[in-house]
Amino acid sequence: MPHASATHRRHSLFRPLLLAVAGALVATATLTLPHLTPDASAATTLRGYADGRGVKIGAAVGDGPLTSDGSYASVLDREFNSVTAENAMKWDALEPSRGNYNWAAADRLVSHAAAHHQGVRGHTLVWYSQLPSWLKNGGFSASQLNTILKNHIDTTVGRYKGKIYAWDVVNEAFNEDGSMRGSLWQDKLGTGYIANALRWAHAADPAAKLYINDYNTEADNAKSDALYALAKQLLAQGVPLHGIGFQSHFTVGQVPSSMKANLKRFSDLGLEVSVTELDIRIPMPASSAELAQQSTDYKTATENCLGVPRCAGVTVWGVSDRYSWVPGTFSGYGAALPYTESYAAKPAYTGLSNGLNPNA
Ligand code: XIL
Repeated sequence: MPHASATHRRHSLFRPLLLAVAGALVATATLTLPHLTPDASAATTLRGYADGRGVKIGAAVGDGPLTSDGSYASVLDREFNSVTAENAMKWDALEPSRGNYNWAAADRLVSHAAAHHQGVRGHTLVWYSQLPSWLKNGGFSASQLNTILKNHIDTTVGRYKGKIYAWDVVNEAFNEDGSMRGSLWQDKLGTGYIANALRWAHAADPAAKLYINDYNTEADNAKSDALYALAKQLLAQGVPLHGIGFQSHFTVGQVPSSMKANLKRFSDLGLEVSVTELDIRIPMPASSAELAQQSTDYKTATENCLGVPRCAGVTVWGVSDRYSWVPGTFSGYGAALPYTESYAAKPAYTGLSNGLNPNA
């Protein structure tokens, strides 16, 4: 009993103080709430800043997380005004056996995007990788391959006509030394497949911006020089090329110092430029210094695009470290994205946000 009354007395003593604190909190909430209108808070999301600048902030989306992880979808829809299918629009996903298309996952993403007022980047039509085996190992002649490629572009671009604002028509066509990378297309059709693919895609959806996309082209180097020469030549020939995608799969601390000037030379050709697959990997385990450097790198990479005329936007290759291609591809690396595995915003999120916010 004495114990109980002591407890009661303590409560009685503190009650006025507690009421005062609660009252102050209510007053504060009442004072601040009117400022939290939906518009004002939207401006503090990534997509709020991007919308304000008329650019896209995108994320690569996996069909698995989109359909099974509500937390993932809610962050995606709150923060991003553009999406790219991480795998669902690649040839092996769309046409696993010849003539049998599987549109389900790609359709899901396109309708999800429409419902959440997000644009869609199409990825990708012509690539050496993620081809179905019937195509890769089919032993087709040049003329057969030409027809197969045209049909694929007509069918895929045609299906999403008016729903995809930009297509990565050709992906990863170059070697590091600037020569053309060997591939099913290059080896059988020669470099002319690139102009043909762009022309077919343009006929199938005249409104879509058509891109050539690659990695390790962010710096001024042999590979980006070759890409620049090809872009210039295609434009001179009147080929419908509208943009260059810079994948930007970086390692922490290594955003190339020539990136902005390099993007600018493409923009000076009259082309759009976009960062299409940004992620910044860290050797695991990530230290707090590395996470801080990663934040700076996200800001710099974003500014390197937005600081150039005709930058259409920045896409991050994923949302959360819970689902990222990095650990499975770059042994010993991870933590490459703006959100942790449990959807906490990392310093990288702040860097990305500050890169988009013109007043940061
Ligand atoms: C990656 C996906 O993230 C992985 O899930 C898949 O297993 C392999 O492809 N460059 C590209 C992207 O253009 O399509 C790649 O995406 C990453 C590198």
